[in-house]
Amino acid sequence: MQEITESKIIGVSTPRVDGPLKVSGIAKYASDHHFPGLLYAWPVCATIANGTVTNLNLSEAEKMSGVVAIYHRANIGPLYRVPPATGFSLILDEKRPPLEDDVVRYYGQYVAVVVAQTVEQARAAAESVRVTYSRQKPDVSEKLLGSPLTTEKPDQKSKRGDAASALQSAQVKVDEIYTIPVETHNPIELHASVAVYDGQKYTLYETSQAVVNHRDVLAQMLGVPTEQVQVITRFLGSGFGGKLWPWPQSILAAACSRNLERPVKLVVSRQMMFQSVGHRPAIDQRIQLAATPDGKLTAVGQDYVNHTSILDDYDEGCGEITPFIYSTPNLLVTGGLARRNVGNPTAMRGPGAVPGLYALESAMDELAIALKMDPVALRLKNEPEVDESLEIPFSSRHMKECLTVGAEKFGWSSRTPEIGSIKQDGVTLGWGVAACSWLAARTETEATVELRQDGSARVACGTQDIGGGTYTVLAQVVSHETGIPVNKIEVVLGDSALPPGPISGGSWVTASVTPSVLEAAQNATKSVLLAAVKSDGSPFKDKKPDDLEFIDGTIRLKGQSASTVPMSEILRIARVKSVSGSGKSQGTFGEAKPKYSFHSYGAQFVEITWQPEIARLRVSRVVTVIDAGRIINPAPARNQIEGAVVMGVGMAMFEETMYDPRSGAPINNNLADYVMAVNADSPKIDVTFLDYPDYKLNALGVRGVGEIGLAGIAAAITNAVYHATGVRVRNLPIRIEDLL
Ligand code: MOS
Repeated sequence: MQEITESKIIGVSTPRVDGPLKVSGIAKYASDHHFPGLLYAWPVCATIANGTVTNLNLSEAEKMSGVVAIYHRANIGPLYRVPPATGFSLILDEKRPPLEDDVVRYYGQYVAVVVAQTVEQARAAAESVRVTYSRQKPDVSEKLLGSPLTTEKPDQKSKRGDAASALQSAQVKVDEIYTIPVETHNPIELHASVAVYDGQKYTLYETSQAVVNHRDVLAQMLGVPTEQVQVITRFLGSGFGGKLWPWPQSILAAACSRNLERPVKLVVSRQMMFQSVGHRPAIDQRIQLAATPDGKLTAVGQDYVNHTSILDDYDEGCGEITPFIYSTPNLLVTGGLARRNVGNPTAMRGPGAVPGLYALESAMDELAIALKMDPVALRLKNEPEVDESLEIPFSSRHMKECLTVGAEKFGWSSRTPEIGSIKQDGVTLGWGVAACSWLAARTETEATVELRQDGSARVACGTQDIGGGTYTVLAQVVSHETGIPVNKIEVVLGDSALPPGPISGGSWVTASVTPSVLEAAQNATKSVLLAAVKSDGSPFKDKKPDDLEFIDGTIRLKGQSASTVPMSEILRIARVKSVSGSGKSQGTFGEAKPKYSFHSYGAQFVEITWQPEIARLRVSRVVTVIDAGRIINPAPARNQIEGAVVMGVGMAMFEETMYDPRSGAPINNNLADYVMAVNADSPKIDVTFLDYPDYKLNALGVRGVGEIGLAGIAAAITNAVYHATGVRVRNLPIRIEDLL
């Protein structure tokens, strides 16, 4: 498709088309769905993390008012496993169907589910089920590197040259271990499933970042053809990756609905959110850097271990960015897994890159200090010409400009490197920097665009809007192609019955969807031109479609504005209500020999304030410069980066899921005890997007934003803390006592 360089609407901040629905409460989220005869399910959660269920005593619960059924292993009915698959199909993290056996492998694992007339009745009865266990000591320990339970041999993820020898002979070296604790996704919208089975077909209202995959997985697990499952997620109250793949509650709700032939709603409680719908795993990473005295990297080593559950292998992929972010002749990245009695980890915003860059960018700061070199200058010095891991060019990389523009906006040149040397209004300032990157990609996508006689349009795609602005972006793209104003474009997403679209993950929705939507819009306009030349009474009757052009919702003879007729008029003459076009675009994933290395880049500059007298640490100012291709809708794109920065403040300073070593229970399992960054913790944030369209990725040159905003923030904060205090925090989150 031709590169699109000019547009009246692409790149223009456009208010969210779904905004009024959301602020007025009309938008229906999964758990807002009600149906006649709806029943409520509440799971019985294991109170041990390792052992076996030896008895379920239901006698008290069964007698409680409103109870309709209690399901457990013996009576839930058939549930199947999903066959191994490749690519973006049939993905779920917890592959064991719920209630498959009596073994308990993590705290909170569902061992039964109560269905009742009201949610209160279901919960009360679930809490009255008496479960007897044979218990074993769980392992939830967070020390991973070198742990005897590291069951997998470390995998080699990337290698070039001979890192070991280069590290041995290095003149300047850093060799440190960095750890991050378990972080739990806490979207304000709880996970929820409302299952409606009509004796043949399942309609599932879900909190899903991927309705098509969700449908395919549920059809497999229920043992029915995909046509008999429809998954609907019109709106999401965010997800952060926790809602990418189906979790057991969805399968349980569907099975209960099947067994009772009644609609069933199951809302996961906030407490259960810490147990059975994923988390970012605990991760230990060893980073080794070697450099010449003038700051040229000669070797980079990264070895990481992340915890995973007892049954499933979740690899955090911390080495994703390391192989291409800097130039170095020698590199070795390895990764391994350690099994723990925890629920399945899953992707959490910026999986792999975010924890990986925390470690790498901390180590780069330590290297800069060892070299007595400015940390921005160190990064600039090691900027690669090409992707040295794949030996291919970058599609479009402006890392240097991110660093120099950021330094300029931040005022970096006035930084004095000595610890605690910058004071302002009686407090110590610390200034830190980190570079960052995140993958750019497209996945296969189909979409349709309909142009209607009333002058409006409709665009449909089986992707979803997690809250980042997909509804609005697609309206802008259709508006760009057709000239129809955004407020006359209906965007339909979040339904597995629509043409299959991408997961709302990886920050790649916009890059994936826009090519197929553009193609669909072009095909729809072609269809209008055909109607114009074929329809009796049309002023263009018997012309050739090639003689005509479609501009701003009107048809005219090429170059002859006097001949202009509105699209709606042509469709009225043709007596058709609407015409449609479809589009399909290919993915970039899994290409055996990619031609380009596709990524976004950025630089994060952070200021912290430190008041030792009262032990008060604050992140006061962040300047972030992002090179993410063309930005279609700058206002929500900026919101994405701002939100990510605040999440980075939480990652650096607060977030940590703690497990009780005796029971294996996540203990700070609520919004009061699991501390996250809130408005009061938000720094002043200055977001700049460099505007370099990446036409190698798609015609609009768009890569998408979201996760990149979080990458590097935690390291920039700990680097700033070092600058202010002289304390290097290598174990997140930073604790005040670390600094005293
Ligand atoms: Mo994101 S962790 O790819 O939803």
